[in-house]
Amino acid sequence: MSAFDDFLATFDAEPGYLNWAANGPLSPSVRAEVFADADLLGSGRPSSLALVVDRVAQAKQTAAELLGADEAELTVQPSATYGLMHAFYGSTGAVIASRAEFPSIALTLERAAQASQDRLSARWISPEDGHVTPDAVAEALDDDVTALAVSHVDFRTGYRADLAALREVIGQDRLLIVDAVQSFGIVEDDYAVADVLVGHGYKWLRSGRGTGFARFSPAARERIAPVLSGFGGVGGPLPVDELPPPASDASAYTVGAPDHLAAARLAVGLGDVRDAGVGNIEEAVAGHVDAILEIADRHGIPVRSPRERARRAGIVTLAPEHPAPLSAALTNAGVVATTRGDAVRVSPHAGTTADTLRMLDEAIAGIGEEKFISG
Ligand SMILES: Cc1ncc(COP(=O)(O)O)c(C=O)c1O
Repeated sequence: MSAFDDFLATFDAEPGYLNWAANGPLSPSVRAEVFADADLLGSGRPSSLALVVDRVAQAKQTAAELLGADEAELTVQPSATYGLMHAFYGSTGAVIASRAEFPSIALTLERAAQASQDRLSARWISPEDGHVTPDAVAEALDDDVTALAVSHVDFRTGYRADLAALREVIGQDRLLIVDAVQSFGIVEDDYAVADVLVGHGYKWLRSGRGTGFARFSPAARERIAPVLSGFGGVGGPLPVDELPPPASDASAYTVGAPDHLAAARLAVGLGDVRDAGVGNIEEAVAGHVDAILEIADRHGIPVRSPRERARRAGIVTLAPEHPAPLSAALTNAGVVATTRGDAVRVSPHAGTTADTLRMLDEAIAGIGEEKFISG
């Protein structure tokens, strides 16, 4: 068996799970790590504690490897949003962002701008379909713009932004701030084009909550003041009776001591994805998305998410005229998805089985197609 086959064999959640874009059931290796670390921390032995503490460096190292970055550019964070807080609260000028972004970008940017005494402002854009395209960004550019903040894959539409093209449009003098929550670990891309990149482990990495991380490139560190830096951000021993400046590496964007247990889960989730190969995972997810698109088309359900492989990842957004019967049928059949507003979001992972896709197909078939079309 290849490492990728081994990876696929670890998907042991109940059939019907199609909600990876919301929450990832913990992988067996992450679950084993939790028990092992709990035992280590129960002994009181300093060498046992050190083993768990070491997982922070390991998480940063593996994330850096997957991002094509230097380990000194990585920080662990309580969540992706905390990484964005460090980025926005320390920024100045106008930051372009879509109004339709997940609140981790939209609300955090708004709050940071409100607190900035006019040093920072949000330059909101409302592109067609919510897609943050190079053209939509180009229209909003002027000399005041210092950064673009964008989700690599949009939580609602499933649209995958073209990071390289966005970088090209904004140029090297502005920062590219990327929320990679819905892509990291399942999409191979040139992540190094982002100056700030945030992600977390509780969806596609199957590592549970508390597993945020953020990368701050040298350009980001030059231009983003570490205003939320706390005692965890000095890069040395606990600063008692002294007031040292923030560290010169990315650890400056840290508040307190990390949650070692969470970092250990993240390290294991990242390691599993690296060993399996992100390209292999991407290919498998794309195949399942193709199968879901085929099911939707066969039953006449309109799809709002992109079909082109390069512009999508693991999210299929079904937008029938009447979403309630679809949502109810999925729930009754044990298919787990997310219904929000007028759409039902379905999200498979590499290990999604044919059984799960069959459950989706049969649940939809059981409704009758007339339910999706207004009479
Ligand atoms: C695109 C996106 N960004 C951020 C988040 C939230 O991340 P966190 O809870 O780690 O702050 C989510 C959660 O669904 C998301 O979809």
